[in-house]
Amino acid sequence: MAGETVALVPTMGALHEGHLTLVEQVTKKADRTIVSVFVNPSQFAAHEDLDTYPRDEAADLRELAKLGVDLVFAPDVEEMYPENYATAIAVEGPATAGLEDKNRPHFFGGVATVVAKLLLLCQPHMAIFGEKDFQQLLVIRQMTRDLNIPVKILAGATIRETDGLALSSRNAYLTPGQRSIAPMLHAVLKDVALKIGRGGKVSRVLGTAKTRLGRAGFRLDYLEARHTVTLAPLEKDATGPARLLVAARLGTTRLIDNIPLKISDG
Ligand code: PAF
Repeated sequence: MAGETVALVPTMGALHEGHLTLVEQVTKKADRTIVSVFVNPSQFAAHEDLDTYPRDEAADLRELAKLGVDLVFAPDVEEMYPENYATAIAVEGPATAGLEDKNRPHFFGGVATVVAKLLLLCQPHMAIFGEKDFQQLLVIRQMTRDLNIPVKILAGATIRETDGLALSSRNAYLTPGQRSIAPMLHAVLKDVALKIGRGGKVSRVLGTAKTRLGRAGFRLDYLEARHTVTLAPLEKDATGPARLLVAARLGTTRLIDNIPLKISDG
């Protein structure tokens, strides 16, 4: 209705408490809430889990109804990418920081393109993204700024299991054994932040943490301390704001996480 504010929560479905918290946050800020549910093929590489990505539309709709969502937008692939579709957004800046992009070079172009399409289709005043995908959040902020898309991008804090594991639809892939090891990712991040906060040398603390994660059975893609806004690697003498970011595999499941980092200045 005229004069009302609209919020969009873009998702790929398989909704968990992390998504539902984002929905709750924006329903408090906007008059109307739209949730999009679309498993976006253009952000998956051929070898990735597009076909097996968890999907449960009926459960998603039930949860969203409970939260009083006004509209669920769940387009088909053909609707988003019809025959002869030929346009994609090319991303640089935070999208080429050498973190997720190093392991998933196709990913942020696909995310930026689909998010731009969702924003243009739904025309919300605001849209919210989880901080768990921290690099994605920065890429989307940059993309909406650069393309003058009139939307406010909000960030939702990472929601965790009681043992610290960041909620993710992909956690469903973990075997019971892997699930018991997985919380160590967050525990190690917290330990690294504590040690660096107390004046530990960034490279040394990160080195020890990498060894610890390797011994526990993680195959590490990266564990890095980066500038929170630019994602540039921290110089030896840098003072925050900084972020610790990690991506690691347990078996075939890839987990990511990040937390803020306070660099000691003394
Ligand atoms: O974070 C996600 O679930 C997806 O990358 C997004 C933002 C919905 C785009 O497909």
